[in-house]
Amino acid sequence: MDFDTLRMDFPTVRNGAGIYLDSACQALRPDCVIRAMDEYYGDYPACGGRSVHSMASRVSLAVDETREALASFFGTDEPGCYVFTKNCTEGLNTAAFGLGLKKGDTVITTDSEHNSNHIPWLILQENAGIRRKYSRSAEDGSFDMEFFKGLFDSSVRAVSVQQSNSVTGQTLPVREIAEIAHDRNAVVIIDGAQSAPHIPVDLKKIDADIFCFSVHKMPGPSGMGVMYGKKEVLESLNPVFGGGGTVGLVTYDSFTPAPVPDRFEAGLQNYADIIGTKAALEYLSGIGMDNIGKHDSELMRRMMGNLEDVRNLHILGSSVPEKHGSILSFNIDGLKPHDIAMMADSMKGIMIRSGMHCSHPFYVSRHIGGSARASVYLYNNIAEIDAFTDTIRHIADVFGE
Ligand code: ALA
Repeated sequence: MDFDTLRMDFPTVRNGAGIYLDSACQALRPDCVIRAMDEYYGDYPACGGRSVHSMASRVSLAVDETREALASFFGTDEPGCYVFTKNCTEGLNTAAFGLGLKKGDTVITTDSEHNSNHIPWLILQENAGIRRKYSRSAEDGSFDMEFFKGLFDSSVRAVSVQQSNSVTGQTLPVREIAEIAHDRNAVVIIDGAQSAPHIPVDLKKIDADIFCFSVHKMPGPSGMGVMYGKKEVLESLNPVFGGGGTVGLVTYDSFTPAPVPDRFEAGLQNYADIIGTKAALEYLSGIGMDNIGKHDSELMRRMMGNLEDVRNLHILGSSVPEKHGSILSFNIDGLKPHDIAMMADSMKGIMIRSGMHCSHPFYVSRHIGGSARASVYLYNNIAEIDAFTDTIRHIADVFGE
């Protein structure tokens, strides 16, 4: 696969808009995604699933085709098991609030979750009296399977974990986690925000009951996400929102819910983005997720190798590049993460993220104020990585302690 040619599919790369190393937040978009969305707005900007005229029928068909593309991309049989959301966060909230958990029910997460897989459970802890248990992570971010097994008792109803961590990049053994949870009758929810864009995800193999991700990281339209659920799980989940498109017959006193997935998609949908999602999936499939994973690893090896001897730089998580997926979080003694990010941008047009990366408990529990974070994707190349590490080395030498 020629990644140097692929880079040119991205307008911001062609236009020299800078070195983008913030793909864990949101990816750049290739021409095909932008074109698919433009085509919708220019040629058939109607509503799907309601009107029967020709323009609307074309939209309804395109929505169905995106669900089919999702089922094929993630290796499942039923396109109807993919619910459109506005991001991974909305999917995780829909799952958490839809499970109907009661006082005393326990949910296990890890101690390093993104806020999206923490706050909904925290709200349920406060409002419904559920209990929380945290599976602990080792210093390098890896999962402690024995500790996890020891957390179960008869009150555990759900296990909800991030497949790839948004701070350390560490990928968890979700298949084994699901097997253990299922043996103990717990529902398994997986936050795939940082894994789905970067590694092959076979949902049948993982056997997740619910799997949520953001399409804007993979590299689809902004504000677009998906919640996959096994049919029987979706059918047992209480919808959080109601309204147009979610019902069969409605009277003054009652309504019958529409079949899944429609019952979860209240109101007019984001059709341009749903259509752009199919283009993004086709783009990724054309490259091959294995190839993308290998490309990420090559870039991470280069990045960590180049930074190895920067004496005042500290990496969060493993010292093994392959364990970082596509993410490197780090600190430099004497500098605040935002200062590092602003200097890299103003000095060399290098865009990274800084702060707590919506993973506050990770930082607070480790008494760390935040970190800088560089994240790579298929359009980055070795020259960009070298420019980034040269700049970081300079910042660390001149401004660090
Ligand atoms: N979840 C996104 C990130 O980690 C916003 O940057």
